[in-house]
Amino acid sequence: MAAEAALFDIIFSTRSMRRLKTDPVSDDIIYQILDAGIRAPSGGNTQHWRFLVVKDAEVKRKVQEIYQKGWEQARTIYDGRPGPSHMEEGKFRKLLDAASYLADNLAEVPVLIFACLKERPMPPGEAGAQLAAKLARLSGSSIYPAVQNMLLACRALGLGATLTTVCSLHEEELRPVLNLPDNISTYALLPVGYPMGKFGPVRRMAVEEITCVDQWETPLKRPA
Ligand SMILES: Cc1cc2nc3c(=O)[nH]c(=O)nc-3n(C[C@H](O)[C@H](O)[C@H](O)COP(=O)(O)O)c2cc1C
Repeated sequence: MAAEAALFDIIFSTRSMRRLKTDPVSDDIIYQILDAGIRAPSGGNTQHWRFLVVKDAEVKRKVQEIYQKGWEQARTIYDGRPGPSHMEEGKFRKLLDAASYLADNLAEVPVLIFACLKERPMPPGEAGAQLAAKLARLSGSSIYPAVQNMLLACRALGLGATLTTVCSLHEEELRPVLNLPDNISTYALLPVGYPMGKFGPVRRMAVEEITCVDQWETPLKRPA
């Protein structure tokens, strides 16, 4: 029962932590986080995930330049538009400020973990091409469970992290910086460090607002 309570406590307080201290994070701890990541499921148990841990100051500086470019582009989606209806506007602006802070300070974060996938071989010919096109939409499903495991592991170890993706908008620029082979694609970048702030509760829309039963439009009722 204690383990169950602890797991739920971790899940309910694993939120994006973008303001991180520069204090180093030990290799042992990074290994532990990766080891938790690879306990996740992957399609056909292929385990095509690959991870790249970046600690070198010069590599981080180059990654930050690419991240900032991606973030500036992503920001144009939000600028001049109201935030999501379920969020107070002030809180949403704070989220954007925190995201900008991360973009401006990424190179100071002690460890950056890239979560990648290795290309999956497909059957030859037209059949293979068609299958690949259908699977494209699902490709991230074999890496994001590992990413979430790592976020939970970070939280359990008192480390802050955030699932970020804007760097992958410019993957062609990342390739030479990270020496990425052509058959490896990046799916997420997790900046990891000890948080400046405190972990707090994760706020979300209620389950009954977003869940139907048996048929669309038949809402789930919250148990009494
Ligand atoms: C697919 C995906 C991409 C994301 N990309 C970024 C990103 O590039 N930069 C960033 O600061 N946060 C990014 N986030 C974090 C979200 O902004 C965050 O999960 C959301 O605002 C909820 O925040 P909370 O977990 O702190 O409640 C991303 C999250 C997801 C799931």
